[in-house]
Amino acid sequence: MKRKITPMALNDEHDVQAEDTTVEAATEDTTSRRSGMDLTNNAQVYDAGAEAFHTKAPKLLSWEAVGRPALEHSLADMDLSQAQIYDGGSASGRITKQLIAMGAQPQNITGVEISPDQVALAQQDIPEAHFIVGDLSTVELPSDHFDVAVRHMVDEHLSNEALAATSRNTLDALKPGGRLVTIWTDPQRVAHTEHVTEEGPFVTNFPWGGQGTNYYREVDRSAQIIRDAGFVIDRIEELPIPDGDDVRDIDPQAYDNYMGQGYGHGEAGIRVRAVIIAHKPAVGEVVAA
Ligand SMILES: C[S@@+](CC[C@H](N)C(=O)[O-])C[C@H]1O[C@@H](n2cnc3c(N)ncnc32)[C@H](O)[C@@H]1O
Repeated sequence: MKRKITPMALNDEHDVQAEDTTVEAATEDTTSRRSGMDLTNNAQVYDAGAEAFHTKAPKLLSWEAVGRPALEHSLADMDLSQAQIYDGGSASGRITKQLIAMGAQPQNITGVEISPDQVALAQQDIPEAHFIVGDLSTVELPSDHFDVAVRHMVDEHLSNEALAATSRNTLDALKPGGRLVTIWTDPQRVAHTEHVTEEGPFVTNFPWGGQGTNYYREVDRSAQIIRDAGFVIDRIEELPIPDGDDVRDIDPQAYDNYMGQGYGHGEAGIRVRAVIIAHKPAVGEVVAA
């Protein structure tokens, strides 16, 4: 059953362009009035935005100043040069490229992505890596194969049921002791900007154009779903936009927009990204109930 959709909101992979977009009136279904597209169908939605996402997403301030440093920080203690890595929701390859910049071998990276057009772009850009068109919750992957699984800005697209199934599938694909890093839009950000605080889906405008559906859920709920799938949670972080001239230099307009909305107050700032670092229990590891 479709939920009633809350007032049109903005996806957090959007920065200033989307924040300037006119917020549309509430709709009661998830069919785009502009295109007739089913906004709950991520394959369609991300096919339509493939070229634009490919061009714009790597330049977003929230990626440069928060997402990318969080990914680097989460894997800083690992030697990625021999690691088998699973890039979940790999889109057109932004995260795969970053993993390669962090020392991973492209041939050791497998991306899974539901949008065929995004996969085509990723494969064209990084031919040595492996990209599969598939759904994270059902895709068949080798068991006990990966040292690391990463999802960046993907969990906000997954319902509770889809996150649970994706987590179980990912757990199976990881080696015992293997690490999961998932980074996604912090619910504080959604609540502050969009006034969406009720668990469930809402429609959002993307900065690269078009619209899609995101899912609001508290960080603790995400952690519980991931724990219930069998992971051990090692760390949960909620990150604001850091302030400073070096961050402003990335994109002054986006930076000023964030600061004007109250994101730039260090520890008191509104969180834009949530991060969960977890692992699959090692052989013989005793997991607390
Ligand atoms: C905001 S993009 C982030 C892409 C990439 N992780 C990055 O940070 O550049 C979200 C991606 O997740 C993909 N996605 C959403 N639900 C999915 C699912 N169930 N299975 C596979 N991919 C999915 C979308 O198609 C989209 O490409």
